[in-house]
Amino acid sequence: MLEKDRIFNFEKIDVEYVAHILSTDKYDQELFEFANEVREKYVGKQVHIRGIIEFSNYCVQNCLYCGLRRDNKKLTRYRMSLQEIIDRAKLIASFGIKTVVLQSGEDFSYTTDDISYLIREIKKLNVAITLSLGERSFEEYKVWKELGADRYLMRHETANPQLYAALHPNDSFEIRKSHLFYLKKLGYETGAGSMVGLPGQTPYDLALDIAFVKELDADMIGIGPFIPHPDTPLANEKGGDLKTCLKMIALARIAVPTANIPATTALGTINPFGRELGLKWGANVIMPNMTPNPYRPNYSLYPGKICVFENDTACANCVKQIIKRAGLIVSDDYGYRKKEVVIA
Ligand code: SAM
Ligand code: SF4
Ligand code: FES
Repeated sequence: MLEKDRIFNFEKIDVEYVAHILSTDKYDQELFEFANEVREKYVGKQVHIRGIIEFSNYCVQNCLYCGLRRDNKKLTRYRMSLQEIIDRAKLIASFGIKTVVLQSGEDFSYTTDDISYLIREIKKLNVAITLSLGERSFEEYKVWKELGADRYLMRHETANPQLYAALHPNDSFEIRKSHLFYLKKLGYETGAGSMVGLPGQTPYDLALDIAFVKELDADMIGIGPFIPHPDTPLANEKGGDLKTCLKMIALARIAVPTANIPATTALGTINPFGRELGLKWGANVIMPNMTPNPYRPNYSLYPGKICVFENDTACANCVKQIIKRAGLIVSDDYGYRKKEVVIA
C-alpha cells in the first residue's frame, strides 16, 4: 500500500521512497487517487488558462535537447516586434484569458527597456504577466518585478547536477538554482519543473526533481516528456513516456499541494489525450498557444509539436473543451497561487 505520510506533509522529501514509487506500477492507482484528493482539497476543480506568446526563437544557449539551440542552423529564426507582441496580448485579453505568458529563447536583442515597455503596455490590459525569457540579469528581474511582472517561469530541467551540466554547456545547476531562489525572493510567483526521460535519467533523479520543487516551494511546476529533436545532439535518444510524466505530476501535486501545475503541450504531443490525462492526474493549468502565424511553426523545441495549424486562435477555445472532458471547471480568475487554505 502507498505510504501517504512518506510523501505528504513532510518538510523534506523521502527521495528513496519517491524513487521506489516511480520504479514500480504497484501504487499507480493509489497515487492517482491521492493526487486527486489533494487537488480537490487544496486547489479545487478550477483550471486556469494562460495564453502563451512565443515571441522569439533566437537563443544564445545551446541546451543539448532543444530545437532552438544556437547551433541548430536548420531553423528559420524570427523575432516579433514589440507592437506585434502587444497586439497579440490584446487578442488574448479579448478572449477573457487573464494571464499572458511571454516566452522566448535567451534573446538579448530584447533589452531591459524593451521588456519593461511590454510589461507596462500589457499590464494596462488588466492581465497577469508571466515572463519566460531564460536566464537574465538579477537587476533585470528586479526592474521587471517592480513594473508589475507577476510570474517567472524557468524550469530547473533536472536536479541531478551532473546531468544538468552535461546538457547545458556553460551553465550549472548551482547557477540555475541561484536564479530561481532570487526570483522567489523578489516576490515573483516562480515556476520550476523538469523533463522526464532525459538520457541516463534514473527514478532517483526524478525523485530529486520532486525534492527540488519542494525545497524551492515552487509556485508553478512544469513537467513534461523530453522529446528528441532530429537537429540536436540528442536526436537518437528515446525520450519520456506518458505514465512516468503522469506519476511525476501526481507526485508534484502531493509534494506542493497549492502549486499551479500545467498539463503541458509536450504531454499533448506524445499522446492525443496527454493534456486531459495530465489534468486528471493533478494538473490545474493549461496554456493555449497564442503565437501568431507565420511564426508559430518555427518555435519548434521538439518535433510533432501540437497546435500548429492555420487558425492561430483555435487553441483558446479548444483548451476549454479539454478542461471539460477532464471533468473540471474553466476558471475565470487570475489564477494566482492559492494560500494554504484547504477547500472543504
Ligand atoms: N528559453 C527559456 C528557457 O529555457 O527557460 C524558455 C523557453 S524553453 C524552449 C522552454 C522549455 O522547453 C524548457 O524549459 C525545456 O524544458 C523545454 N524543452 C526544450 N526542448 C525540449 C524537448 N526537446 N522536449 C521537451 N521539452 C523541451
Ligand atoms: Fe534556449 Fe531555452 Fe531552448 Fe535552452 S531550452 S536552447 S535556453 S530556448
Ligand atoms: Fe491547441 Fe487544442 S489546444 S488545438
